[in-house]
Amino acid sequence: MKFFSVFSAWSAILSCTAVVSAQSDPDSIGTIYDGHVPADLYGSNYTYPWQVKLFNFSNQRQNLTMAFMDIPARNHHKNKKTAVLLHGGNFCGVTWSDTARHMSAAGYRVILPDDIGFCKSSKPQGYSYNVHQQALNINSLLTALGIDQVTVIGHSMGGMIAARYGLMYPTKVQQLILVDPLGLEDWVAKGVPYLSIDATYESQVVQNFTTLKQYEQVSYFHNATWKPAYDTWVHMLANIYSSNYGSDYAYVMALVTDALLSQPVIYQLPLLQTRTYLMVGENDVTALGKAWSSPVVAAKLGHYDELGPAAAAMIPNCTFHMFPGLGHAPFLQDPEAFYDVLFSWLD
Ligand SMILES: *[C@@H]1O[C@H](CO)[C@@H](O)[C@H](O)[C@H]1NC(C)=O
Ligand SMILES: *[C@@H]1O[C@H](CO)[C@@H](O)[C@H](O)[C@H]1NC(C)=O
Ligand SMILES: *[C@@H]1O[C@H](CO)[C@@H](O)[C@H](O)[C@H]1NC(C)=O
Ligand SMILES: *[C@@H]1O[C@H](CO)[C@@H](O)[C@H](O)[C@H]1NC(C)=O
Ligand SMILES: *[C@@H]1O[C@H](CO)[C@@H](O)[C@H](O)[C@H]1NC(C)=O
Ligand SMILES: *[C@@H]1O[C@H](CO)[C@@H](O)[C@H](O)[C@H]1NC(C)=O
Repeated sequence: MKFFSVFSAWSAILSCTAVVSAQSDPDSIGTIYDGHVPADLYGSNYTYPWQVKLFNFSNQRQNLTMAFMDIPARNHHKNKKTAVLLHGGNFCGVTWSDTARHMSAAGYRVILPDDIGFCKSSKPQGYSYNVHQQALNINSLLTALGIDQVTVIGHSMGGMIAARYGLMYPTKVQQLILVDPLGLEDWVAKGVPYLSIDATYESQVVQNFTTLKQYEQVSYFHNATWKPAYDTWVHMLANIYSSNYGSDYAYVMALVTDALLSQPVIYQLPLLQTRTYLMVGENDVTALGKAWSSPVVAAKLGHYDELGPAAAAMIPNCTFHMFPGLGHAPFLQDPEAFYDVLFSWLD
């Protein structure tokens, strides 16, 4: 009797779910707003070069606003394609602007979202920033824009979300480009100790231009000369930390760090069905948790020159490129080299 009632409760839930999803995709309901938005939005006052639009939607019992830019293909190419460019954790959609210009000239419509929690998007607290949710949020935006087939390019954290996107929505992704993605190793399995969300928050809330620049010099531009152009991206970030949303943003970073550490994607790379291009900088040494690991553990982490080829060998349909002498952000460090590689591979 007990078994029977449990079973019927489950079948009621399952049939109910089936009815809902047959009617529409509840994850994709939202509103696109393309009216005026303030220059300073959710703590980011950085000036974006194209109109900032908003996708208002809700999940996890929260109303969310995702800021994005939508750049049309510049020429009337007969094969119109769309690309979505996913930013890294210390960057924003706007960091891809130069790449977006090149892709637009090559016939792509380009969508540049700011992930929920980041930059000009809302910064819900008490929200699960798990990587699946972040991929789902991007998919909700693309669905609301009527985009079904897409080229996905992701850098750093955005690369980890892009890989997850490819696993979740294999029929929608025409090609996947991962640029120094996070997640090419399981940091926790390699010995990174647990740092509580509260302790991560404490380390984040004191960030300023000096500390961020120092981190990026060591991790992203390892043994390279710092160029004044990189300052722009550090100011963009430091201004969020010093804004009225600074504390909320620091807490989001703590939640995001927790999610990235607990959701390794490396084991699932063999399941990727999409044609994939993995590119890494030879001198990239970025790894989550390195800062609070012992020297012995830290020494094992972030060797992209080894992680890159190993990950490429796990992905069924993968082309691999290593940029000699470049670090974590090849598209900023040597844009011409990056475009040569990117456009020689894209269809
Ligand atoms: C979307 O949300 C923003 C706040 O983030 C609000 O200013 C705007 O009016 C909303 N637009 C719509 C169409 O709901
Ligand atoms: C953004 O805010 C910072 C700090 O308040 C300020 O120095 C900077 O000039 C502002 N930038 C813009 C584009 O308003
Ligand atoms: C979300 O917005 C709707 C419509 O404006 C409002 O009724 C609802 O209370 C909001 N939910 C939350 C959790 O703020
Ligand atoms: C930046 O933060 C560091 C560490 O919290 C602090 O020592 C330094 O004084 C700060 N610098 C500025 C310019 O606020
Ligand atoms: C990789 O994907 C491309 C495009 O879908 C396809 O033409 C090619 O046959 C695939 N190669 C392998 C080894 O699966
Ligand atoms: C740059 O860093 C890499 C990796 O740590 C190292 O192998 C290489 O020798 C360094 N190059 C220079 C010029 O310092």
